[in-house]
Amino acid sequence: MTLKRLTCSVHALLQRRCQITNINNTGLEQTPCTGALIARTYYGVARSTDQGDSGSVLVRTVDLRSDTVTKPGPAMRRAMAEAEVGDNVYAEDPTVNELQRQAAQLFGMEEALFVPSGTMSNLIAVMSHCRERGEEIILGEKSHLHIYEQGGTEQCAGVHSCTVRNNPDGTFNLEEVESKIRHGYPDSHYPRTRLIGVENTHNIQGGRVLPLAFLKELRSLTDRYGLAVHMDGARLMNAAVALSVRPSDILQHCDSVTVCLSKGLGAPVGSLLAGRREFVQRAVRARKVLGGGMRQAGILAAAGILALTDMVDRLKDDHRNAKTFARALLQLDFPLGCVDLSAVETNILRFRMQQPGLTPQEFCTRMEEVTPGEVESLGQGVRVLMFPHVEGSVRAVWHLDVSEKDTQVAILKLNYITQKYREERQRA
Ligand SMILES: Cc1ncc(COP(=O)(O)O)c(C=O)c1O
Repeated sequence: MTLKRLTCSVHALLQRRCQITNINNTGLEQTPCTGALIARTYYGVARSTDQGDSGSVLVRTVDLRSDTVTKPGPAMRRAMAEAEVGDNVYAEDPTVNELQRQAAQLFGMEEALFVPSGTMSNLIAVMSHCRERGEEIILGEKSHLHIYEQGGTEQCAGVHSCTVRNNPDGTFNLEEVESKIRHGYPDSHYPRTRLIGVENTHNIQGGRVLPLAFLKELRSLTDRYGLAVHMDGARLMNAAVALSVRPSDILQHCDSVTVCLSKGLGAPVGSLLAGRREFVQRAVRARKVLGGGMRQAGILAAAGILALTDMVDRLKDDHRNAKTFARALLQLDFPLGCVDLSAVETNILRFRMQQPGLTPQEFCTRMEEVTPGEVESLGQGVRVLMFPHVEGSVRAVWHLDVSEKDTQVAILKLNYITQKYREERQRA
């Protein structure tokens, strides 16, 4: 959370509730009343963070847009500054090598490879499992790999994708998977199924953890057909903490995994791709052709080592805080959003709006804007940042920089906007 005494006129803040009019070709949107620039994002529209110009209001910001917004703290910065480095493309960076060694051990995989991002890691995995044109991956229709990675599988790897319906818990029906395997191959009409992709935890489905029983069943299906399983485990460590198991217990059912260091684990950059030795050797080549061969990357890997050693245990705090907020949402005497509490398993909360007149965008705007009445009533301004999400829902994500106290402050704001909304409805 950031806490700032900002110079801003309360009136100017009130004025900021205005309509978005133009979308220009830079992807930025201009508000007519303040001229503030608003970035268009892949989850919706993020409002700008600029403040007004006169007066003085204490404003607290609780940023729940994503766990990617975390900033490295002093210990992590120190480790980065002091990292021993070498040329990582020659495999000579001792800090990268150490991170890869530790990761391989933690994941129960033969080898691991440090790569710049989760998106690149998933793409490299697809390229390394599916090596000929005309090969195919089967994956969930709501997976990050399918929706938010620009179709890199087709665009860059020349690999066809085939989707199956995602269940609310992030799993999918294995009979549907089996029916979509290209049994007709090598008949020249069909692509060749090579790979099944799963996501754990599942982002769009609200941080759901894949049950181990599902992964085990998937493994026996893929073994029958000689297919590989790649897990997009951007938040694998959240899944392991939620299940109280080792990451390797989850990954025993997979051939490869992507794990992000730059999400809940708080590192500024980087992901790990792990699998069998021969797979990682192919991945090294794919990483290079995609421009991911980073040289003195030990500076980044040092943050990654700290992320894996020091940041995993605290993920349970994020899970608890997400649940606390979900509970508060359910306890509102004028219900704004609905959520199944038992489905809040990790640090991502997704809830559907329940009042016909209150859209996800409008809810997020109300949570973010600071009004004079709020400052008077709460003694401070509170900006809670969340994203409108798919299917009329809102997504909020807990992380390193959102404490239990911040969560309580966000709940204060929720209660305040609920009361105001209720008053408006009663007057209407
Ligand atoms: C499930 C999942 N996979 C992959 C990614 C991509 O990671 P990156 O932003 O590092 O490319 C994300 C990013 O949010 C994600 O949520």
